[in-house]
Amino acid sequence: MQNSDFLLKLKAAASATQACLADVLQPLGGLPVAEGMRYAVVGGKGLRGFLVTESAALVGAPGAGAIHAGAAVEAMHAYSLVHDDLPCMDNDDLRRGQPTVHKKWDEATAVLVGDALQTLAFELLTLPECSSDPKVRLALISSLARASGGQGMVLGQAQDMAAETALKPLTLSDISQLQQNKTGALFEWSATAGAVLVGTDAGPFRRYAQALGLAFQITDDILDVEGNAALVGKAVRKDSVSGKATFVSFLGLEQAKRRAQDLVDEACESLVIFGDRASTLKAAAQFAVSRST
Ligand code: IPE
Ligand code: IPE
Ligand code: MG
Ligand code: MG
Ligand code: MG
Repeated sequence: MQNSDFLLKLKAAASATQACLADVLQPLGGLPVAEGMRYAVVGGKGLRGFLVTESAALVGAPGAGAIHAGAAVEAMHAYSLVHDDLPCMDNDDLRRGQPTVHKKWDEATAVLVGDALQTLAFELLTLPECSSDPKVRLALISSLARASGGQGMVLGQAQDMAAETALKPLTLSDISQLQQNKTGALFEWSATAGAVLVGTDAGPFRRYAQALGLAFQITDDILDVEGNAALVGKAVRKDSVSGKATFVSFLGLEQAKRRAQDLVDEACESLVIFGDRASTLKAAAQFAVSRST
């Protein structure tokens, strides 16, 4: 599949999850926390939501359920970014080409925006529009809790922060673990949600997402070194001065790029049972490493 065709599909999926989020956020009123929530969910690539809707389509899951699950993971991801940018974490002023939430409002608002986006993610999964089967909704809620909490994304963020001041450099295996937790876990949830919605084997999607999530984070680390801040929409050249443990800091740029491409190949091989029907997800894996934003 051509990258331009893939980008059109990504845009369409992002519009669908955006519309769902706009609907649920509309009644929240005009306080800074509500304005901040609306502000924080827009402007991203929408890749996690796309992984939900695209893998759901591949296994025949209903569109409305997939869009709700896609909106849920995009809300969770937006919360993680709002908190990641806080002065007590990465201390960033720019996100998605705009001032970060704590810059536009203040730190208290940014903490609350993140908190409220996290609970919104779970609320979306409780709605009957997500699935008419309460057992399926519960499975999605509990797997998202695990993927985003103290054994998933939050653990990864804690490992990422701890690495900044660690006395001993992390090993490659430590860095893989850290990145699997901070980034991979939400990717894995996204790519497997469709299989959970219809009760089918999530194995191929899990293997795909594990490789894709790592490749995606390696590319994020490469963009920090090589990227253009205006395109990436956030500050670059920060990881090294902050002492972040990344594949780039460990392997150097060239080897990190090779590793990312190997992971893309691995991701695509995981979907071989779907044949050509998986061409969009394969294009997503290639996009994860070839992107400039
Ligand atoms: C940024 O994720 C944070 C990482 C896990 C690397 P994205 O690059 O998907 O951010 P948006 O949603 O497109 O802004
Ligand atoms: C953050 O990783 C991943 C999250 C869980 C939010 P980074 O700190 O590298 O993400 P960016 O570079 O700020 O987007
Ligand atoms: Mg960070
Ligand atoms: Mg950051
Ligand atoms: Mg980064």
